[in-house]
Amino acid sequence: MASVVNKPPFFDPVQHDVLVALEPFVVDLTQAHLERRKLWFPNELMPADDGPGVEADVELKQVREAARGLPDEVRVALAINLLTEEGLPHFHRLIAVYLGNESPWSAWNNLWTAEEDRHGCAMRDYVRDARIFDMGALERMQYRYIESGFNPAWEQDPYRLLAYTSLQERATQMAHANTGRSCGAYEPKIQRILAHISGDESRHYAFYRGVFNEVVERDTERALYALLKVMPALAMPGHTIPNYDLMSEVVRRGDIYGPRHYQKIVEELLAFWRIGGLTGLSAKGRELQDKLMKIPARLARMADYVEAKSSPRSFTFDFLGDRQIKL
Ligand SMILES: [Fe+2]
Ligand SMILES: [Fe+2]
Repeated sequence: MASVVNKPPFFDPVQHDVLVALEPFVVDLTQAHLERRKLWFPNELMPADDGPGVEADVELKQVREAARGLPDEVRVALAINLLTEEGLPHFHRLIAVYLGNESPWSAWNNLWTAEEDRHGCAMRDYVRDARIFDMGALERMQYRYIESGFNPAWEQDPYRLLAYTSLQERATQMAHANTGRSCGAYEPKIQRILAHISGDESRHYAFYRGVFNEVVERDTERALYALLKVMPALAMPGHTIPNYDLMSEVVRRGDIYGPRHYQKIVEELLAFWRIGGLTGLSAKGRELQDKLMKIPARLARMADYVEAKSSPRSFTFDFLGDRQIKL
């Protein structure tokens, strides 16, 4: 077997030229992002110090009392959302590998990483202060998650990275927003944190889908090919963790995030990029277009199947003290 150690990223020369030509657009999108965002910090949401009118001990007591009401499926959603955020080293690395380290792309990567880094921090501050998990068990899971690495089969195709990040940002935005909504009745604090996070995710989503839109316009067939490789199933870095599938199933049963949500995201992006309406394609391009437009129906059939075979059962997780969760 050939060694792949230190194999440099190789881009198709056309893709390389498209990425370089997109740099001024990336500068503009980054600027637009900076103008729209309001920078916030985890300590504003979960203060670790006594500010005016704030007594940290009293606050902590209130947080713990309110958190007691959180349903288990919401706790599982918080765990999976936190893990996903803590996968940031994987994503930062992939973006740097695929988009380089000395260009407006890397300026975006650093800005994006700084924003994303607050998401894991803010959620961790909350779950730790609220005492909703066995933190040791959660930390062991997080450790394995980072240690197992993440190498999606993108085959040196930077368009797959851009397609993936578009889908992923919308998926995390939806998961955080829906988790926050489910928390709202019990815990306004975590709902507020998740609202801040999902606001960031929707601005990130605007960036990546805007970039990919340009790719579709400038290099249509390769863009369609990349989409077809990524869209049918969104690989998550956590899928190697024991129990990850069961956690996903709990979150699906709680109607927080599942195949129906993913189907909606796929439909939304196919429409945003106007994939169905593309004209002037070659025979191969039309074939790719056709296959892409069939994905939503296939995802719907998969969701139907999952729902049809789903019957009440119980789940246990070590980070929730191995108690029975019946759903
Ligand atoms: Fe995030
Ligand atoms: Fe994001």
